[in-house]
Amino acid sequence: MLAYRHAFHAGNHADVLKHLVLTQVLRYMVSKDKPLRYIDTHAGAGSYLLKGKDAQKKAEYREGIGRLWSRPDLPPALADYVQLVQSFNLQPDENGVVPELEKGMTPPLALYPGSPSIASMLLRKTDTMRLYELHPSDVRTLATHFGHERRTNIIGGDGFAGLKAELPPSPRRAVVLMDPSYETVGDYGKVVAAMRDAVTRFAEGVYIVWYPQVSRVEAVQLPKRLMALAPKGWLHVSLTANKADGHGFGLMGSGMFVINPPYTLHNTLATEMPVLLEALAQFDEASYRIEEQPA
Ligand SMILES: C[S@@+](CC[C@H](N)C(=O)[O-])C[C@H]1O[C@@H](n2cnc3c(N)ncnc32)[C@H](O)[C@@H]1O
Repeated sequence: MLAYRHAFHAGNHADVLKHLVLTQVLRYMVSKDKPLRYIDTHAGAGSYLLKGKDAQKKAEYREGIGRLWSRPDLPPALADYVQLVQSFNLQPDENGVVPELEKGMTPPLALYPGSPSIASMLLRKTDTMRLYELHPSDVRTLATHFGHERRTNIIGGDGFAGLKAELPPSPRRAVVLMDPSYETVGDYGKVVAAMRDAVTRFAEGVYIVWYPQVSRVEAVQLPKRLMALAPKGWLHVSLTANKADGHGFGLMGSGMFVINPPYTLHNTLATEMPVLLEALAQFDEASYRIEEQPA
């Protein structure tokens, strides 16, 4: 089917939470001397033009990265994430044009990096990336950005099925991001099945699953089903930024479920989430939650 296009949502509150956590996990993993493999099972296009017509349709980024863009008072992990997005905006765009930057100013917010670009900025030469994506035009965009890199493989195929063949990786250190569109309700079951298989094949892996907070029983149950796969050694963080629309639909927030998280992640998020909540809240009952079951 593949009607979902991430360009409509790039940089929204859910991307902010997702990429904040991804940045922190990867920073920790690359602080160790050994090579790392990053596997993105649903990579998207890797880069999004925020002035493009898709991103402008609802301009969701304005209630996400847009609210953090020029804030000088962010705590360290949020400041780090925003700085990564700012440096991405200093790269030449698809037409080779470098955005103008006045001295001492933040660059204009024109581009938003997808998860492969965030990872690419953090990984070292000795690390490798495996990017799975089904949509042909996103695969082409990934190829434009990463096709020349020896450390990166782009696979135009199903990331749920592809993950089986990736595990265990060599070398045996990997971060897996599973970030489906949940366009069909079957994705919830596929996430649980893929994660069950993954922790059986490679128990030491660091697995990050994004899920939406929407009015759907499968979405509400997903974190509990993931907890059952990893009784010890998980962290769950969620942010409810918005209320449902008048019909009970819409993306209210999102969650990240991390299996084998860095031991530093809980304390980092405990500092950052109150600030993120204050910045991204769109209604009075907005809230966040952090739960952890250490290994
Ligand atoms: C939420 S977007 C990914 C966003 C990206 N991870 C990021 O953070 O920038 C989900 C992507 O998964 C792709 N997709 C859908 N089903 C897939 C599958 N079975 N395998 C791989 N990619 C899939 C969609 O085309 C879409 O680009």
